[in-house]
Amino acid sequence: MHTAVFSTKPYDRAFLEAANHALAPGHDLRFIEVRLAADTAALAAGAEAVCLFVNDVADRAVLEALNAAGVRLIALRCAGFNNVDLVAAEELGIAVARVPAYSPEAVAEHTAALILTLNRKTHRAFNRVREGNFELDGLIGFDLKGRTVGVVGTGKIGLAFARIMRGFGCEVVGCDPFPSDEFTAIGARYASWDDVIETCDIISLHCPLTPKTHHLVNGAAIARMKQGVMLINTGRGALVDTAALIAGLKRGQIGHVGLDVYEEEGDLFFENLSDQIIQDDVFARLMTFPNVLVTGHQAFFTAEAMEAIASTTIANLTAFATTGTPAHPVSRALLA
Ligand code: NAI
Repeated sequence: MHTAVFSTKPYDRAFLEAANHALAPGHDLRFIEVRLAADTAALAAGAEAVCLFVNDVADRAVLEALNAAGVRLIALRCAGFNNVDLVAAEELGIAVARVPAYSPEAVAEHTAALILTLNRKTHRAFNRVREGNFELDGLIGFDLKGRTVGVVGTGKIGLAFARIMRGFGCEVVGCDPFPSDEFTAIGARYASWDDVIETCDIISLHCPLTPKTHHLVNGAAIARMKQGVMLINTGRGALVDTAALIAGLKRGQIGHVGLDVYEEEGDLFFENLSDQIIQDDVFARLMTFPNVLVTGHQAFFTAEAMEAIASTTIANLTAFATTGTPAHPVSRALLA
């Protein structure tokens, strides 16, 4: 199947080619470095499928352009699907596929890494020790054992994260409109969203970004959180209202913030901008806080996850080429 792969990085190409070579004959993959957007949609000309990542934009205008170019399938090489207008895709008859699970542990382990780094300040210690500064002042943390950790969204990643935090001896409290027995079986418990935001020492977001969860963590929610709360977002940037987050940091209510995602990350992440002036003043303000740690959407980035993403993406293309339906379709029902 002729597929235009947008936002290609060298590692995407390596893993997708390896998975594709396992097939005979393989799919015809055309690697394109730029992101999909209204002004780049024409690059899909001649392709039956486009393969997209998290910051490619497939809104109605882009989908109409892809439809006119003959594209029949959008194969997302990620779990989230917030960057595709599913209503428009359905109306245009364009199928959408994703990789529903590749390595929940990869994201869960990165979440734990953010918590440990923020708490024990290993990033600051690393720099100090390399400069011969062995002072401990400013590096004090807290014991995780006995702390209450809130898990917002107890699906695959939330559950894997809950297991890790139970291992540290934390009390784990989840909220999810669809509670799971697996979550309670590990000694975690469910509570309401209100309880989670008002009682937890650490709150970690693992729900999808949908119209209902957009700015779930807003000024009103932050105002009700515990003084000194640690907030972690490895879900999607727009789950958090960044302006409200900064206000909470400035008044000292939020004690630590760990972000792997940012609501305006599309203009920043995955690129080397080290020689450029960052134009996003909100992001630049975030970078001034000593208690904020941002990684550039890398929670998924393990070898195991990349292999699984590539093989599932190729399986989606193959299933669509042979049956007209991808192996892991995304439908509007997921927005409910
Ligand atoms: P999942 O579908 O297994 O679990 C999501 C859970 O969130 C479901 O149980 C759902 O019922 C729940 N949920 C929905 N609305 C909610 C709400 N308002 N409050 C609380 N819970 C709610 O998805 P999975 O695989 O665990 O991934 C979760 C999210 O993590 C993805 O949607 C994606 O946005 C993000 N992600 C981030 C990655 C990264 O590299 N930073 C990599 C992979 C996923």
